[in-house]
Amino acid sequence: MALHTVVRGVGHFVPEQVVTNDDLARLMDTSDEWIRERTGIQERRFVQNVTPASELGVHAAKLAIEQAGVSPTAVDYVIAATLSPDYYFPGIGTLLQHKLGLQHVPALDVRAQCSGLVYGLAVADSLIRAGAAKTLLLVCAEVQSIVLDFSTSGRDTAVLFGDGAGALVLAAEEGQSLPGPGNGVRGVIDSLLGSDGSGAELLCVEAPGSGTPGFLSQEVVNSAKWRPRMDGRQVFKHAVTRMGDTAEAILQRNGVGAEDIALLIPHQANLRINEAVRERLGLRPEQVFNNIERYGNTTAATIPICMSEAVEQGRLKQGDLVLTLAFGAGFTWGANLLRW
Ligand code: UT7
Repeated sequence: MALHTVVRGVGHFVPEQVVTNDDLARLMDTSDEWIRERTGIQERRFVQNVTPASELGVHAAKLAIEQAGVSPTAVDYVIAATLSPDYYFPGIGTLLQHKLGLQHVPALDVRAQCSGLVYGLAVADSLIRAGAAKTLLLVCAEVQSIVLDFSTSGRDTAVLFGDGAGALVLAAEEGQSLPGPGNGVRGVIDSLLGSDGSGAELLCVEAPGSGTPGFLSQEVVNSAKWRPRMDGRQVFKHAVTRMGDTAEAILQRNGVGAEDIALLIPHQANLRINEAVRERLGLRPEQVFNNIERYGNTTAATIPICMSEAVEQGRLKQGDLVLTLAFGAGFTWGANLLRW
């Protein structure tokens, strides 16, 4: 029997501080109405004081490990996904290894921004099926509030993002047959990833970086180059097309119909993007899980936070066919098809 990658545990953690659209409207020229209509966001969570991404990741990871019912010492691989690491380098994978008291196992950082979960899960699945990992911790954590511009000149990005973390414990299991599409196998069935670097500058933090003279020069500090920059309309168009195409392709190549999907868990960048994808795929509203109204866009963390809440709410049960779907900076995009 072949090895499969099963989600054993899932957890999420968001900071306590709730920031509403009205709170932001007191800092910049925006409104609750504009933000809700254009994005679906009503509020988001921000860390207080200096709380690094690894800290949120540790909380989420502990919950996932607890739910999985495994000992932290059983974890034999760490994959972390973040665009907001504690340090420029190293990534947060090693920090998680240390803070969680794990063995000296490999710790890998995936830099795929909003596609962090789908990329991380695809890599994890390859490692597990190849026999390189048996109990893998995948942690997606972001602290983005610290880099946003809360004056009117930053409103096109500042209203979108939030802080939070989600984590999965993935375990190797011998294939277990269940009736239904996707060969009836429990766990990850397939992943489909893509990228197009020609879109890198449409959504990025340009500096500091090795492409900038002086790396952290006064010019960089004075400019807005260290804050996220996005051409929202362009990114929106690419997201709708890529997410729709990717979902159709992965369903088709696995012989899965829209009606077979128990839950589509898309990245939470914009409710309008997710509605457009849902309509294109012909899914009913209850087949899609969204929580952007409460957390905004937590980048790599959106999908695992959704998964964790879907389990809590009884909307995700063992045996359900799940499709994840993401698009983000890079550009990167992808989907995972799995049986929960
Ligand atoms: O997670 C990674 C992937 N990210 C995404 O997928 C995000 C994709 N893009 C989007 O979700 C949308 O493009 C946004 C929500 C970012 C913007 O929505 P939009 O409908 O594309 O608005 P827009 O950028 O075309 O701006 C419309 C107007 C502009 O004013 P004018 O030029 O029409 O006078 C903006 O200046 O809205 C203005 N505006 C705002 N007004 C109030 C931009 N941001 C704000 C704001 N509050 N926060």
